[in-house]
Amino acid sequence: MPKRSLPLAEVYRLLEPGPVVLLATARRGRANVMTMSWHTMMEFEPPLVGCVVSDRNHSYASLRATRECTINIPTADLARAVVGCGNVSGRSVDKFAKFGLTAVASARVAVPRVDECYANLECRIADSRMVAKYGLFVLEVLAAWIDRGARRPRTLHHGGRGVFVVDGEVRRLPSRAK
Ligand SMILES: Cc1cc2nc3c(=O)[nH]c(=O)nc-3n(C[C@H](O)[C@H](O)[C@H](O)COP(=O)(O)O)c2cc1C
Repeated sequence: MPKRSLPLAEVYRLLEPGPVVLLATARRGRANVMTMSWHTMMEFEPPLVGCVVSDRNHSYASLRATRECTINIPTADLARAVVGCGNVSGRSVDKFAKFGLTAVASARVAVPRVDECYANLECRIADSRMVAKYGLFVLEVLAAWIDRGARRPRTLHHGGRGVFVVDGEVRRLPSRAK
């Protein structure tokens, strides 16, 4: 398999995991939502999710201050809103209004869920020791919701620089992994 050297700045494009999600926060009575794709599962139960949020984002300050958020998982039909929420800051724009998203009250946190997303995770910070160095928040999922009708949601996966892959073919192979 002939290979070429890949610039290190391009590595994220290979491993960026997806699905792209919408991270919602709320502070001083204002809810905000930002697009996020740098996240990873860290534990089965209680579920722990590691998320990298840049300190340049408005969401970073809200999350640090309130220690709560929701992770909302959109399907491909929300692609324009997803890209929009990742290209404008909640400092100056009400993104729920601008992108036609509906905030519904959560059960366990004071941050709303995004109703249009097929799944929603209500989260609280479990570990913030790596926030200052890496912007890495370890979140515990306190409650999770999924669309009753969801069969095979066509999620969005980020390939960098405006390239998105929509989840597609399913293959089942024997495996002992949970
Ligand atoms: C597809 C996509 C994925 C993104 N992933 C992340 C991410 O994982 N972490 C992050 O800090 N910003 C990420 N961003 C950038 C933020 O969404 C963007 O800076 C946003 O405007 C922040 O909004 P806020 O200032 O309202 O928090 C992503 C943007 C896009 C379009």
